[in-house]
Amino acid sequence: MTAGSVLVDGAWWRTETGADVVNPADTDQVVGRVEWATPGLVEQSGAAAAQAFGAWRRTSAGERAALLLRIADRLDHQREPLARLAVAEQGKTLPEALGEVDRGAATFRYFAGQALDPTGDLLAPIKPGALSYAQRVPLGPIAVITPFNFPILVPCWKLAPALAFGDTVVWKPSEATSLTAAALAQVLVDAGLPPGCVNLVPGGADIGAAVVALPQLRGVTFTGSTAVGRTIQRALAGRSVAAQLELGGKNPAVVLADAPAEATAASILKGIASGTGQRCTALSRALVPRQRHDELVEALSVAADQWRMGDGLDPGSMAGPLTTASARARIDASIAEARARGGSAITAGTVTSDRPGWWTHPTIVTGLAATDPLAVTELFGPVLVVLPHDGLDHAVELANATPFGLNAAVYTGDLAAAMAAIDRIEAGMVQVNADAGVAAHVPFIGVGDSGFGPPEQGPWAREFFTRAKAVNIHPGGQG
Ligand code: UN1
Repeated sequence: MTAGSVLVDGAWWRTETGADVVNPADTDQVVGRVEWATPGLVEQSGAAAAQAFGAWRRTSAGERAALLLRIADRLDHQREPLARLAVAEQGKTLPEALGEVDRGAATFRYFAGQALDPTGDLLAPIKPGALSYAQRVPLGPIAVITPFNFPILVPCWKLAPALAFGDTVVWKPSEATSLTAAALAQVLVDAGLPPGCVNLVPGGADIGAAVVALPQLRGVTFTGSTAVGRTIQRALAGRSVAAQLELGGKNPAVVLADAPAEATAASILKGIASGTGQRCTALSRALVPRQRHDELVEALSVAADQWRMGDGLDPGSMAGPLTTASARARIDASIAEARARGGSAITAGTVTSDRPGWWTHPTIVTGLAATDPLAVTELFGPVLVVLPHDGLDHAVELANATPFGLNAAVYTGDLAAAMAAIDRIEAGMVQVNADAGVAAHVPFIGVGDSGFGPPEQGPWAREFFTRAKAVNIHPGGQG
């Protein structure tokens, strides 16, 4: 679909380094070849983003909004090929990949509107006769670093506000989904993106480090693991570069005494098994009333058994494989270690494909201490740890007993209990009777080890992608 995978200053560059991309649902199948950026091209991308910023920040909001709307229209037009490429490269199901394109287009449309919204406040005059106002102005060149789990949607969450608010971008996608990133970048180019406004530099940790080190940067927005997020923070120490970090989660599903077993189990299962558990919002801990533990484990097992893993293009597949071999090795080892510590693991569902791939099963783990490593560390796979609680206070205590604080779900019809849980759970996002809730106008935010910096999405995105400028005009002189 593109003439390469490295886009710098409006041109696709060919490089000598690269790798064959293998379909995680059929590891005998090569999807294509990705070329990695070189340190020299990363340097050029920083210069191109700085150069383009000079003109882009001066475009009218209407002009920027028009580009975003054209990008959204082209995403609609390209939804099938883009989604199919994401399926082949990432492994997810076609409906989920199509949903990413559709939600990506909705994100561009949302931020097209945001570009035209007020950008500051008229203030009380600092002296009589003066004009005082505070303005939000573009931040500058921004590094956008994106993960493999939502290879279309998460880049849209960052590219759309950056372009809407007048910033330019150096984008380093995950090594595992760089072909999809290149196809998305091509959509932007086809929609009329001015050269240098978004530069794409795929590669591994070395390229990521080179991007973060670029002297032109005024901000870094990153979605990925907490460990990599901390590495980025260390690289930014001592520099005046803003950071927006969306990190990991160990998200609790708090089940209260009155929750119906079957519907609750189905929702939690969807929360952990969809996307093959490769979602930072995945519900990976079910906190259930002690007296209903066995009933809920049984209901969760029944729900898990209905899960079908297969090729993402097979309409019967509810989830695909894991995206990488290393993820499967890590998850298998973690479950084996938890078993050795006395945990019981129920492995459920059916793999319907006969192709070699990074297949895994929804797994429900019981019998662990609340402090067990599997109960407090993020696995990024479809592994649910079930822990018993002795009532609301204990459930909240368990919910808060990890360093993370991204998403939390509460299952109950008791309004007072739900509101008490909402108030006391330390998480950026709380759902009642649902596993997750994500949309372009809703802030996406984590606390603790789950995030740092202003939220993504909604009007809150402006906090990161712009900066404040205070202005006082004294028309008569002698301020
Ligand atoms: C979604 O759940 O629909 O990595 C999107 C993640 C988030 C994106 C969630 N940054 O799970």
